[in-house]
Amino acid sequence: MPVAIANHYSGGEYKISERALRLIAENVQRQLGVSDYNVNIVLTGDEEIRQLNLTYRHLDKPTNVLSFPFAEGTDANLEKLPVRELGDIIISLDTAEKESNRYNQQLIYRLGWLIIHGFLHLLGHDHERSAEAARDMEELEQQILIKVFSKRSTMIQLAINVDHVATIRQARGGSEPDPVLAASLCEMAGAGGIVVHLREDRRHIQDSDVYLLRKTVKTRLNLEMGANKEIVDIALDVGPDMITLVPEKRRELTTEGGLDVISQKKKLAKTVKKFDKAGIPVSIFVDPDVDQIQASHDIGARFVEIHTGRYCDAEDTEQRDVEFDLIAAAAEEASQRGLLVNGGHGLNYHNAGRIATLETIDELSIGHAIISRAVFTGMERAVKDMLQIIQAARQHLF
Ligand code: PXP
Repeated sequence: MPVAIANHYSGGEYKISERALRLIAENVQRQLGVSDYNVNIVLTGDEEIRQLNLTYRHLDKPTNVLSFPFAEGTDANLEKLPVRELGDIIISLDTAEKESNRYNQQLIYRLGWLIIHGFLHLLGHDHERSAEAARDMEELEQQILIKVFSKRSTMIQLAINVDHVATIRQARGGSEPDPVLAASLCEMAGAGGIVVHLREDRRHIQDSDVYLLRKTVKTRLNLEMGANKEIVDIALDVGPDMITLVPEKRRELTTEGGLDVISQKKKLAKTVKKFDKAGIPVSIFVDPDVDQIQASHDIGARFVEIHTGRYCDAEDTEQRDVEFDLIAAAAEEASQRGLLVNGGHGLNYHNAGRIATLETIDELSIGHAIISRAVFTGMERAVKDMLQIIQAARQHLF
């Protein structure tokens, strides 16, 4: 394994996904063209790094990162190394966290920068050599940082699920309220996409709605669906801008959990291929589980939608923090694998902001909370209120 991560941190539980760090480090290796060299990354705290700093640099204070090259020198000498070893990068999680707070950055982003900095030292760059060397190193760091974190965005989109409008219509079996009109009002208020779920039992959205929406939606029509033949054929005929595969049970009130991609890889891969051939990108609705994300990537999905339901339903702050960290790790995994990342289910005006702070998430898919508020405020106000919350959260303005 080219990147090995050792965790020496003893300062308590650390909310960091080692797997995400390894993906970042492997991405950095690729950018630097040294993927076939081994490197060890040691995560530790201020005390251990202070001791190392004292022993090897005669500086009795903690620091953020130390690099110990297997062989001193520049990358020109790499070829002469008898083994494919770059060396060790030691990172203090304590200092990284303090720095991430100081610079108002997410911890994972700070750690990514420290990994890049450590790699460049292993390859012979040294900002302490001269002002010019410092400038060159900083420039290189920025270039790699942009590539490694390129999927992060300061913008977040809001896709609105209008199934609930159809649910009210179906209660009387007539033609009002109209989900197609609701979709247009959502778009006029600033929604970046419209989502509808064509269920096997047609309990809310009807086939005719989907065909009409295909004609009227100006942003992006995302058709949510189970991977069954009848619905797949309709989707291929309609040609939405993307589809989202979800598990579907007849008796559930709403989609209850993410799709288990791992146990049905073959079947789902076939479905993804069909849509790929038709030029329709596929998203897969999965629980915040890095193995499900990897499986989604393996079968050719272009997007994942991370299920936020457990985070929304958490009964206390501790549980909510645990669920939030799982979502953050899953989104990081997906982003590092080049997938576009959506999130949704159960999000409302109180809990969506925190999810929107995750710069790895491109779009939130929200239905029930917005349609419920629209009953009292009108659609325009309901959509704009949500947009304001998630966009302010993304810009760290809250
Ligand atoms: N994403 C998916 C995959 C869903 O199934 C749903 C519910 O239809 C949503 C998002 C929207 O969830 P909510 O209505 O709770 O906002």
